[in-house]
Amino acid sequence: MAIQEQRLIFKHLDEPGYSNDIDCYLRHGGYEQLKQAVTMKPEDICAEVMDSGVRGRGGAGFPAGMKWKFLDRKSGKPIYLVCNADESEPGTFKDRQIIHKDPHQLIEGMMCSAYAIQAKLAFIYIRGEFFQGYRILERAIEEAREKNLLGENILGSGYSCDIIVHRGAGAYICGEETGLIESLEGFRANPRIKPPYFPAALGLYQCPTIVNNVETLCDVKHIIEMGGKEFAKIGTPGNSGTRIWCVSGHVQKPGYYEFPCAAITLGQLIYDVCGGLKPGRKLKAVIPGGSSSKILRADERFTGKLKNGTDFDWGIEDIPMDFDSLMAVGSMSGSGGVIVMDDSTDMVEALANINYFYAHESCGQCTPCREGVPWMRKITQRMIEGNAREEDADLLNSIADQIAGRTICAFGEAASWPVQSFIAKFKDEFVEKAREQAARRKAGELAAKETTLI
Ligand SMILES: Cc1cc2nc3c(=O)[nH]c(=O)nc-3n(C[C@H](O)[C@H](O)[C@H](O)COP(=O)(O)O)c2cc1C
Ligand code: SF4
Repeated sequence: MAIQEQRLIFKHLDEPGYSNDIDCYLRHGGYEQLKQAVTMKPEDICAEVMDSGVRGRGGAGFPAGMKWKFLDRKSGKPIYLVCNADESEPGTFKDRQIIHKDPHQLIEGMMCSAYAIQAKLAFIYIRGEFFQGYRILERAIEEAREKNLLGENILGSGYSCDIIVHRGAGAYICGEETGLIESLEGFRANPRIKPPYFPAALGLYQCPTIVNNVETLCDVKHIIEMGGKEFAKIGTPGNSGTRIWCVSGHVQKPGYYEFPCAAITLGQLIYDVCGGLKPGRKLKAVIPGGSSSKILRADERFTGKLKNGTDFDWGIEDIPMDFDSLMAVGSMSGSGGVIVMDDSTDMVEALANINYFYAHESCGQCTPCREGVPWMRKITQRMIEGNAREEDADLLNSIADQIAGRTICAFGEAASWPVQSFIAKFKDEFVEKAREQAARRKAGELAAKETTLI
């Protein structure tokens, strides 16, 4: 039986007649929370966000209230708010829906957040390819400006703040917050070293800066509407609010689906929400949080203890869809990109595809990442071209081990985790492919190509 979504952020998104213009948004109660926010003390809004327990929806799942608390307010420098709309993690396609269909929700969430942190100016850093999204945002900002919902002396409150939309050029690394800041300053998006460059202390133009994801900033509007403690009741403790799951791959009904955290299991998402797999197919694996999250094998048994001390013993279909449960099974909810693979998937080809992406996107500052990620790509590439070697699985793993944890930014992990997890869970397929290709080469069925790759 199909399970009904429980939408908060996407509440009006696909409603017939709902449009992205400001009049429609106002008719649906839009900007009431901004009106309320500017009458509140900024620190009270920060306290509500802290009480809500809302965790960042961009990837790392860091509590937004805590991040705001780290803001260096004593420096006397201007504070900036940046909305990360780069949405570059493969498998993720939720932020662009908000921007296309409900841009005023984002603008309201941003203005409530900007007021709470007393930002002088706010930015939306949008992925370059999202040209339509950029135009929609520009128009929506102009509409809001005309109604004094942003700009000078917002709603007569004495608080002034504007939003600038900045288009990236379409690089994955521009989504990493310090790379994004460099890019916003007009430089190449080379991530900065943390410490000292934690944005809350030394961010945009060396000033305290909060970078949050589109969905996280939309949540702030709802936190003001219902209060932090009520918001925290959606989901489970430590996993509050809803999550938008972007489901792609071998399901009958791929798409975006919003549920309270932990309200459904991975099995319910695949079978009851997305209509199951293609006829006659079996589940093979799932990447639950965007391509950088570790892959889960369909026939695995996941046992251990949750953060709250509860023991668990789950099959893949039993895993509750929330931050802590996905972390407990050795992966993460990341950016919410759930990639489903059935038994027709060639794991070497799937990893080759992922490696191709990461090798293209390394910024090149750190040697292990600049050299190692393209090496991994070359190995999986030669494997799918008929030149697989039996030792390739171990070689891939060893390269990944030498990248993760040894780089300036978390791209190193993002590129290594898929390799490490694919090899840990599907090494037999990598070895089998090498043996099969060697046998075919020997039998003259497969041309032995000279490889200059490594
Ligand atoms: C390589 C890399 C790419 C990232 N891409 C994105 C992205 O496209 N969108 C995003 O919101 N966060 C992305 N992040 C996470 C951001 O660095 C940052 O943590 C996030 O924007 C903070 O927002 P949140 O706390 O609301 O999640 C990326 C991180 C890394 C390491
Ligand atoms: S880990 Fe990779 S992407 Fe990140 S700074 Fe180093 S080279 Fe650039």
